[in-house]
Amino acid sequence: MDLKLKGKSVLITGSTSGIGYAIAKALLKEGSVVYINGRSEDKVAKAVARLEEEVPNAEVKTFVFDFLKTKEIQIQLKQLPEIDILINNVGVYTSKSFFETSALDWQTQFQVNVMSGVELSKHLMPGMLKRNWGRILFISSECAYLVPPDMISYSATKAALHAAARGLSQLTKSSAVTVNTVVPGSTLTEGAQEFLANKAKTENKLIDEVEQSFFEGERSNSLLQRFARVEEVASTVAYLCSPLSSATNGSVVKVDGGSSGGIL
Ligand SMILES: NC(=O)c1ccc[n+]([C@@H]2O[C@H](COP(=O)([O-])OP(=O)(O)OC[C@H]3O[C@@H](n4cnc5c(N)ncnc54)[C@H](OP(=O)(O)O)[C@@H]3O)[C@@H](O)[C@H]2O)c1
Repeated sequence: MDLKLKGKSVLITGSTSGIGYAIAKALLKEGSVVYINGRSEDKVAKAVARLEEEVPNAEVKTFVFDFLKTKEIQIQLKQLPEIDILINNVGVYTSKSFFETSALDWQTQFQVNVMSGVELSKHLMPGMLKRNWGRILFISSECAYLVPPDMISYSATKAALHAAARGLSQLTKSSAVTVNTVVPGSTLTEGAQEFLANKAKTENKLIDEVEQSFFEGERSNSLLQRFARVEEVASTVAYLCSPLSSATNGSVVKVDGGSSGGIL
């Protein structure tokens, strides 16, 4: 299917690895011009080189910026050209008891997970509205629904994204701009692969056994009962970026393998 994304300019935050990288690859294959973001020149350059190798004729650009550098953000935003599609993907988490989670842990996660998308949307959305076309996507998490006891602060940042996205969608009335939220579940990123491998080593088990016990124990509601591949998340995101998804606005689209349950 032609997603009609050829030539669209896309910024994906946190796209040197994981889900962000897979989204970049999917959109480059559709002929979009993609800005890759990460904190260091080196990692961004490596991701760009990999993408150029994996996708023939890919037009990949860079936006090196650490969203924790709050004082520099306004200067950095001015360097950005017009962007048609903004994917607020960057996300960090702590896995700690609520009582051990410091104010700095909360602030860091809110800054990276929420404020990056707020600042970028504030800067880029007026242009989208003026040109009467655009897409803004917020990448949430199943944790917004599950709120694991060791990830209360992370889950709160993800829940905040749902309100921000819904609020921004209300500013798009009668335009061809849409703002939606995508909810991945447990996804087999490089980080998840490392987690599984380390646990398998410590517990002297096979990786498949560790995965199975994770889904039987911590994600028993999952209908998928396995980690999603990054490409499975990226294909949904690519569709929501497309002009073909024009009637989906202010929505929450789950790619969580059914883990969050319920009917909403
Ligand atoms: N993986 C999952 O199972 C899962 C499940 C549900 C939701 N999610 C959500 O999906 C999104 C992507 O997750 P992921 O697991 O694919 O991530 P990941 O593999 O850990 O990738 C993190 C990316 O974020 C960048 N990054 C980290 N801190 C940054 C900062 N301060 N400023 C700029 N860039 C920064 C990293 O770039 P550098 O290291 O190059 O700087 C890297 O590109 C996140 O919002 C996450 O919460 C993930």
